[in-house]
Amino acid sequence: MLNRRRLLTAGGLTLGGLVGGTLLLPRQEAAPAMAEGHRRMHMTPSGTSRSPAPFRVRMPVPRVLSPVSSHRDVDVYHQDIRASRVEMLPGVRTEVLGYGGAFVGPTLRVRQGRRVVVRYRNGLDRAVNTHLHGGHVAADSDGYPMDLIEPGRTRYYEYPNGQPGATLWYHDHTHHMEAEHVYRGMHGFYLIEGGDEKRLRLPARDYDVPIMLTDAHFAADGSLVYAPEDTPNRTTLLANGRPQPYFPVSARRYRFRLLNVSNFRTFHLSLDHDMTMVQIASDGGLLPAPVRRESVVLSPGERAEVVVDFGPCKLGDRVVLNDVSGPVLRFDVVAKAADDSRVPDVLRPLPPLPALGSGKTDREITLKVDMVRGAAYINDRVFDPNRVDIRVRRRSTEIWRITNLDTDIALDHNLHLHLVQFRILDRDGAPPLPGESGLKDTVLVPAGASVRIQVTFGDFLGRYLYHCHMLEHSVGGMMAQMEIVP
Ligand code: C2O
Ligand code: CU
Ligand code: CU
Repeated sequence: MLNRRRLLTAGGLTLGGLVGGTLLLPRQEAAPAMAEGHRRMHMTPSGTSRSPAPFRVRMPVPRVLSPVSSHRDVDVYHQDIRASRVEMLPGVRTEVLGYGGAFVGPTLRVRQGRRVVVRYRNGLDRAVNTHLHGGHVAADSDGYPMDLIEPGRTRYYEYPNGQPGATLWYHDHTHHMEAEHVYRGMHGFYLIEGGDEKRLRLPARDYDVPIMLTDAHFAADGSLVYAPEDTPNRTTLLANGRPQPYFPVSARRYRFRLLNVSNFRTFHLSLDHDMTMVQIASDGGLLPAPVRRESVVLSPGERAEVVVDFGPCKLGDRVVLNDVSGPVLRFDVVAKAADDSRVPDVLRPLPPLPALGSGKTDREITLKVDMVRGAAYINDRVFDPNRVDIRVRRRSTEIWRITNLDTDIALDHNLHLHLVQFRILDRDGAPPLPGESGLKDTVLVPAGASVRIQVTFGDFLGRYLYHCHMLEHSVGGMMAQMEIVP
């Protein structure tokens, strides 16, 4: 078992070395930063993030964006990206960068099979872009790091929504800036409703609630502190942009779509009062069958949809969703309500795994940080937009083995692939964890572990990224690209 504090501070250490140190300084000046990092490794986090007492503010639900126009086969949306000052801590305004000026951008709720076009207008003073995380989209709508929207300009992105219903999310992916931009608010939900979902009668409408989890470091004046090496000081936990809020619920079933957008923290979530969560979906959509979970682990970028049944609760009951580091959110049971929702035993069959000739591993992917050079690597190289790391044939199926080599500093990573949803075959030869048997686009790879995935590529051609979604690591170089070729 990893020691949690060591793991968190190891992140700070690595990032300090990676970005705060070497990448910005000549080599000889980087050494003291490393030594400083080593000292910090055995200390408690030093920062004082301003945090109110828990459960003082109500958790908002991000507003749902309406299309500006609807045509026979496409809905058109407009999104403005701008800076604004919003209330995150009670009674204080914090400057954020966000879609619609919100820390959690508006939710797009779209239907499987119905095409969507989004016009993004960049009202910021810097170039940015948008990536649809988990989406099967053409390369020129994928938010490639060098493919940007200049300040004052607009750009159209097209999302075909041909994939099964799933909880996706959108966020900035600007080269070397994605970590800071996402931290400061450039993210929102994108929910595809599957054509098969209505008949399942899962909790819907007001009882289907997206919850974006992250962490932050607030200065005394309420501003968001961002520094790559500051991960240990991001100690304020936020749900939909508010610190440890409460959320009023009725005594019935809810569908919660949990998403971790933090740059580094892995959430280990559980409910108190021995309540269990029933997981119904992972990154790429519904699981074949529901899975009861005592706890749900979400690394950065991952999603889990769970159904929680407050039906047995009494009015006035309070149920806390906890992370290992403290409470995240409290559900307050305030009303009775009729409930004709259910969780069927069978949800959505997985697409059959294509038969593989030999079943052998096609790609070896290694993840490692280099403490001496202060860089983060995939297969011993930092990201280079001018280099194609691997070529993949359109419509082919491959097995990748992803190995985290950072055993010595006990540093976890994960791996996210753009464009595709994959299947986890095994973890160090053992079956995937509960809740991991469905479609995934991001997988946690703990220090020393090897995970094998099977991935089938579709029809889109072009260059797509794969990277660690601990965003200071991707900024530090732990990112690579594949080119899908005919
Ligand atoms: Cu959510 Cu390349 O990222
Ligand atoms: Cu992505
Ligand atoms: Cu990483």
